[in-house]
Amino acid sequence: MFDLKFDYGDCVSHSERVSWSLDDVMEEGQALDFTKPFLPRDLVRHVADLDGLDEPTRLRLNQIAGNAYLNLFQFVEEYILATMMEHAQAEVFGDVDALRALTRMVDEELKHQQLFHRFRRSFDRDFGHRCGVLESAAAVAQVIMSHSPLAVMLITLHIEWMTQQHYTESVRKDESIDPFFKSLLRHHWLEESQHARIDMLETRKIASYADQEARDQAVSEYLAIVEAFDGLLADQVDLDVASLDAGAAVERSPEADGALRTAIHQSYRRTFLWYGMTNKNVVDCLQQLSPDGARKVADHAGRFA
Ligand SMILES: [Fe+2]
Ligand SMILES: [Fe+2]
Repeated sequence: MFDLKFDYGDCVSHSERVSWSLDDVMEEGQALDFTKPFLPRDLVRHVADLDGLDEPTRLRLNQIAGNAYLNLFQFVEEYILATMMEHAQAEVFGDVDALRALTRMVDEELKHQQLFHRFRRSFDRDFGHRCGVLESAAAVAQVIMSHSPLAVMLITLHIEWMTQQHYTESVRKDESIDPFFKSLLRHHWLEESQHARIDMLETRKIASYADQEARDQAVSEYLAIVEAFDGLLADQVDLDVASLDAGAAVERSPEADGALRTAIHQSYRRTFLWYGMTNKNVVDCLQQLSPDGARKVADHAGRFA
């Protein structure tokens, strides 16, 4: 299964060619520009289409979502780096190229976390007040890692291919967003493109030990993780609305408040769930592992569009 056109050595070579340092992307304490949106329209689509918002409010919501977007990556990268540490440990006396690819990936994820922390410190200082973000990453990492290794790899494939797609299909071509935020996402994408390939190689390795029952079960567990992720996104919606309203005398009807929360939630669902569940590489992988499971995932994806 998985006729892949690359190996671990290719991932290491490419990683060495595109590698960057933290200060190349953002200096500690760097000021942020709040005159432009941070996220492209497609990644906040339902909020962008919501009637009744004035432009300053729409812009602030976009920037709040941009800050939360980076935190959500920082959040999920917590478990990805812990998982890849385990995968690297398994190769200590094994394949040297695999070990180098996996340890580079761990180092890169740690660097991404530091970058996102650095951004959020500037954001909290320059936005005017601190904006709430999810903070239970270690606890969530433990829950995800309690699932079977194949299920953990499926959600990892989802996240890392989704990251690619966000950049190549939405961020790269959008000329209206803040150039600094775009550059930050470009640097993240450069290194994530190796991660998605390493994930394919690791998934193939783990799947080779799994019988059909275990593969079907892994897809069911993947769907359970997606549902749990949706619950976290709902929590982030409440934090975003609190951030928007902080310090202001807000008058919003219950209907308008409900519509706003639904639009933010549906935007997050599309960005973090639908994109991954419908990504061509993820779908190909699911179909090869479990055709029944792939159909269930396709059925679930529709409500997150
Ligand atoms: Fe990353
Ligand atoms: Fe990654």
